[in-house]
Amino acid sequence: MKIVVATEKPFAKTAVDGIRKIIEDAGGELRLLEKYTVVDAFYNAVADADGLIVRSDKVTKEVIAAAKQLKIVVRAGAGYDNLDLSACTARGIVAMNTPGQNANAVAELAVGMMVYMARNTFQPGTGSELKGKSLGIHAYGNVGRLVAAIGKGFGMEVHAFDPFVPKETIEKDGVQVCADAAELYSRCQYVSLHIPATAQTKQSIGYALLSGMPKGACLVNTARKEVIHEDELLKVMEERTDLKYVSDIAPDNHAVLQEKFGVRYFSTPKKMGAETAEANINAGLAAARQVVNFFKHGDKTFQVNG
Ligand code: 3PG
Repeated sequence: MKIVVATEKPFAKTAVDGIRKIIEDAGGELRLLEKYTVVDAFYNAVADADGLIVRSDKVTKEVIAAAKQLKIVVRAGAGYDNLDLSACTARGIVAMNTPGQNANAVAELAVGMMVYMARNTFQPGTGSELKGKSLGIHAYGNVGRLVAAIGKGFGMEVHAFDPFVPKETIEKDGVQVCADAAELYSRCQYVSLHIPATAQTKQSIGYALLSGMPKGACLVNTARKEVIHEDELLKVMEERTDLKYVSDIAPDNHAVLQEKFGVRYFSTPKKMGAETAEANINAGLAAARQVVNFFKHGDKTFQVNG
């Protein structure tokens, strides 16, 4: 059982040590490919791999073709838009994620970003507080519900929209349910995005939703840059000089937004939502256990294709 961990953005050392122990205790061999800069290094590393663990690394059809022995790929994290699921399925390769394992880290960053924007990106001057403000959770999954709980701790009034989660599940957390996205955006001074990047959601957050937000509102994106319609974001921020946008990964029009909007816009230079030792350990070790359980017991829990 040859397992490759390919992470352009490496896990913390404690996580790598834990992954190695799980693989080696199960009689497997770990090959580590970190901080690679050319895709050929990825192709070479997977050539004789039985299993593959990645983060946001792109597992394209070319990677799948290069990995002739591959039986399982685990995305150590939540979003699996970086995996070519059709290519995996065509070869009978099981694809999994590790849902929830890094959710707390992302939720803490989302709320931290709200504070940062409320305090004018820590520039001198008068800011505002989160207490008493309305917080909208767009998708009530593992991260969304943690952001809701932290927001309530801050004294925020929390609303959510998620067509896939029963109304009662949201309401029992003391969160008000919105009938659609338009209602959520029109009610909330902060909207925190937690939708995945899919064919349906790509570029779905644009002018119509953002122009309906209350005065001084802020959109917080710790999900994916692809869900934003960037041209429409630019247009609405030009028209509405009170709106703010904060993102955990630079949009393609980062330079324009930065130059035009000053303290109304901020983006982390590299996605850092899951960049905590705790999240690395939780997601990395879960991925290693899932790989071992698949080879030992045929366990396909958390499979996302097929
Ligand atoms: C996820 O989908 O789990 C997060 O975006 C984390 O991605 P990362 O592993 O690249 O930090």
